[in-house]
Amino acid sequence: MSSEPTTVTITGGGGQIGYALMFRIAAGDMLGPDRPIRLRLLEIPQGMRAAEGAALELQDCAFPLLAGVDVTDDPLAAFNGTRIAMLVGARPRSAGMERGDLLAANAGIFGPQGKAIGAVADDAVRVVVVGNPANTNALIAAASASGDIPSERFTALTRLDHNRAVGQLAEALDVAAGDIADVVIWGNHSATQFPDVSHAILPDGMTVLEALAERLGGEAAATAWLDDVFIPRVAKRGAEIIDVRGSSSVASAANAAIDHVRDEQLGTRRGMTSAAVVSRGEYGVPEGLVCSFPVTSRGHDDGYRVVEGLHLDDRARARVAASVDELVAERDAVRSLGVL
Ligand code: NAD
Ligand code: LMR
Repeated sequence: MSSEPTTVTITGGGGQIGYALMFRIAAGDMLGPDRPIRLRLLEIPQGMRAAEGAALELQDCAFPLLAGVDVTDDPLAAFNGTRIAMLVGARPRSAGMERGDLLAANAGIFGPQGKAIGAVADDAVRVVVVGNPANTNALIAAASASGDIPSERFTALTRLDHNRAVGQLAEALDVAAGDIADVVIWGNHSATQFPDVSHAILPDGMTVLEALAERLGGEAAATAWLDDVFIPRVAKRGAEIIDVRGSSSVASAANAAIDHVRDEQLGTRRGMTSAAVVSRGEYGVPEGLVCSFPVTSRGHDDGYRVVEGLHLDDRARARVAASVDELVAERDAVRSLGVL
């Protein structure tokens, strides 16, 4: 076991996803069984009691890997020396709130947090934004830390969408989720995202498209299922969960955030996964946008790299473009607020 604990900061540590995350992280599910962890929970004053209560429970678990837990409402204390920052706490949309208001409210959170990360985090910090609107919140945080932390260290979570796509395909093909590789989520973590199965494969080398055609009675039937059932179901799954559960996804979101950080830190295992990363212009996505791409990681702190050279047909290009247009509109709305 390496002796120096890795500092992991969770914002919104008194909230639902924070609660679902911290016990699994402390158990070693994210960084493996050999890496001791120091947890820092950042909250706003109203959330402090809930976070403090969770910290008491963490102590009661006596996790061998957990070197300590700090709870604070001071971003500089929360991010001091942090190596992995998981930005979960965000301002939810309330009744009557316009999109611009939501972006402005979140800019007021992710701007100062990005700045604090730039000022005091470990030089090798990596950041994943979970709080919505995740892609644009990551853009704001990255811009606010600029000069101190390279923007490519900031990512946003689309692994939940990726996992949802895999789950839907596993059910449709009656195979194990672990048998499906190389699904890709493109674009924004929103209903405009494009869940793309055109590169996805099964262990025997059969493509998912071939398997769907075989199961559903031909290529046309497979295409119709993808367009009419699969894509809208994955893209709107967040809303479906809210409708059925009465509140937004929690355990699946925490699980995806753990998958995202684990694969980024330790390396992707089979094929590619999906993460929203800062575009360097790949696939024509404007530079600087935080967009979901096919990615891999070699671990060893290399971070996610976009898998280039995948073929996108005209229909796929149009779907990616629609989601990228939404990201551009969000960026422009934030710019018009004077944030970027
Ligand atoms: P929650 O309301 O249960 O918890 C959010 C917590 O954040 C609260 O305790 C709140 O006090 C805290 N908080 C608010 N502002 C803060 C700040 N400035 N600093 C620190 N903490 C702050 O919500 P939740 O269910 O945990 O969801 C959190 C976010 O994750 C929401 O924005 C939700 O939409 C988003 N989400 C994203 C995905 C994804 O895939 N990207 C999936 C599910 C949910
Ligand atoms: C999800 O995908 O489950 C969430 O982003 C939904 C939400 O609006 O919180």
